[in-house]
Amino acid sequence: MDTRRLDASEEGIAEAARLIAAGELAAFPTETVYGLGGDATNDQAVAKIYAAKNRPDFNPLIVHGSGKAMLEAFVTFTSLAEKLAAAFWPGALTLVLKRKPDAPLSLLVSAGLDTVAVRVPDHPLAQALIEKAGRPIAAPSANLSTTISPTSADHVLDSLKGRIAAVLDGGPCAVGIESTVVDLTGERPTLLRPGGLEAERIEEITGPLARPEKDPQAPRSPGMMARHYAPNKPVGLNKTSFLDQEAILGFGPTAPERALNLSPSGDLIEAAANLFAMLRQLDQGNWKAIAVMPIPETGLGLAINDRLKRAATPQS
Ligand code: TXA
Ligand code: MG
Repeated sequence: MDTRRLDASEEGIAEAARLIAAGELAAFPTETVYGLGGDATNDQAVAKIYAAKNRPDFNPLIVHGSGKAMLEAFVTFTSLAEKLAAAFWPGALTLVLKRKPDAPLSLLVSAGLDTVAVRVPDHPLAQALIEKAGRPIAAPSANLSTTISPTSADHVLDSLKGRIAAVLDGGPCAVGIESTVVDLTGERPTLLRPGGLEAERIEEITGPLARPEKDPQAPRSPGMMARHYAPNKPVGLNKTSFLDQEAILGFGPTAPERALNLSPSGDLIEAAANLFAMLRQLDQGNWKAIAVMPIPETGLGLAINDRLKRAATPQS
């Protein structure tokens, strides 16, 4: 299959929407990362997503709506869900909610669970595409499973060229890290995946979130597989001294000159935006390993360190 690059015009959007409505796959930009989009109401289209990604099919997908109203046909919004949606949608927050029994949604999309992850992306192209397609779009990050998430159309093509019908090119993603996933279907609201929206901001509304990584009692996301975001080269964390054969992923003003610096000024938002592109760049270079400097465990640093820990887990 020839993967077409569609530009961010009326025609480009219309063509991507036509492909999705016809059950084909089109990658598209969101504010977090590029999504690999397919019709969320069409099992075949959803199956194609898993196939294109080489993704283990126990890992359910996020369903994207152009607004909350579109998603109300599929999931039940609790009063807490209403508050979070009002505060943070459109935006980098994904809510796991109970699936409505008669929801006209592919069963594959939630991989057999009776819950569905939903979000409204804060990107004009994503919104226009979903509106035009007239249906919710299922979209995991537009990369092969266990590789680095794509933050540009070129990244998508690197990974999925020949495997999907098209990519809608909206330039680089502003946030650069996936959405924060919060499960509202259990006893306590639970942070399943740290991401582009800081957990602290969510907790201003929910109170303390349960955190499966810290609390063994809390439910686990099927997406919390240890090796999910992995460059091919070995990755070492919290490094402050470096070997000549090591590539350096720097952070802050003390990084050596030759480092690729996530943020010379130590800005975690800038670091998140650079993370995947820089990891990718270092992974392609002629280095033995990637050494990552310490990154503070606050705000977006949590999500960045979460991704980096996964990248550093040795291949089994
Ligand atoms: O920013 C993002 O979230 C991007 C853009 C494209 O929206 N999408 C994304 O999708 O990162 P994906 O498929 O790579 O990650 C979805 C995460 C996984 O960790 C998955 O396990 C979790 O959401 N998830 C999806 N449905 C779930 C469910 N019903 N229950 C629990 N976790 C769920
Ligand atoms: Mg992903």
